[in-house]
Amino acid sequence: MRILSGITSSGEPHIGNYFGAMRQHVALQARGQAIYFIADYHSMTVVREAALRRRLVHEVALDYLALGLDPVRSILYRQSDVPEVCELTWILSSVTPMGLLERSHAYKDKTAQGLPLDHGLFAYPVLMAADILIYHSDLVPVGQDQKQHLEMTRDIAQRFNHLYGVEVFKLPEPHILEEVAVVPGTDGRKMSKSYGNTIRMFWPEKQLKQAVMGIVTDSTPLEAPKDVKTPLFQLWSLFATEAEREELFARAQQGGLGYGEVKKDLLRRLLAYFEPARAKRAELAKRPADVEDVLTSGARRARAIGAPVLEAAREAAGLGRGAA
Ligand code: TRP
Repeated sequence: MRILSGITSSGEPHIGNYFGAMRQHVALQARGQAIYFIADYHSMTVVREAALRRRLVHEVALDYLALGLDPVRSILYRQSDVPEVCELTWILSSVTPMGLLERSHAYKDKTAQGLPLDHGLFAYPVLMAADILIYHSDLVPVGQDQKQHLEMTRDIAQRFNHLYGVEVFKLPEPHILEEVAVVPGTDGRKMSKSYGNTIRMFWPEKQLKQAVMGIVTDSTPLEAPKDVKTPLFQLWSLFATEAEREELFARAQQGGLGYGEVKKDLLRRLLAYFEPARAKRAELAKRPADVEDVLTSGARRARAIGAPVLEAAREAAGLGRGAA
């Protein structure tokens, strides 16, 4: 089974990304041939600075490797090292109805917010379809927010196959990553880099401490019962067992449990949980050329899988001189 997913490198990953996708990506490696790529072409609609784009790809690669992505068993590559996806994007564009793209939630949201739109953002789902279809991917693990993009991918694949009368593309199955846990940001809204409320697992200890101590709490006095449906308790729960959670929540409801104590314990748990990955990342960060080698060899392996599929699409569509 071929598992494929892309990670947009528009910021440094945080614990919301970790619990929402990265952890599952790492675990899925055991179920088949995993191909993960860092979507720097996709990042172009958001990140407008060349040096930052390069740096973010490197950071995301380090994060994944530190968190257990196995570069021998799986493939990790930088999207722009496989330019074939751009050619396939054009081929697929020609069978993608405008109406389909106009129904995209992401596009509609941006339009509703009155944000300036470029064609790249509008065509984003076609690039994503090319990313997926070029490898005959079976399973595409993504968050709920990407479900529509996968439906579009299937639709685009079917249109191409139907129009040219050849089953060039395989229809991928979405694997929607359950919201395993709510990951609120430090201000209580959804954790997102655009809100500036993130906690990054690889921050230096001092910065992590600052973020944890800054989690919003109310002014309930120490002795009063505490509401556990609040960001601090939700974040703490990510790092606790069921039994530990019941115990702490019972204490919270009795009163006498201070927020400061919970924050200190959360920081301790966070550091302990990510300690192996933090150590590994620190080691890897000293060898940037090795990380680059992982990406280069990943791209070589990915291209070997994708090239015949692109060739079949070219052949079906009558592009190039054709087989003799
Ligand atoms: N759009 C995806 C996201 O924002 C990232 C992505 C790009 C992707 N291409 C993909 C995910 C292909 C899965 C398959 O999360």
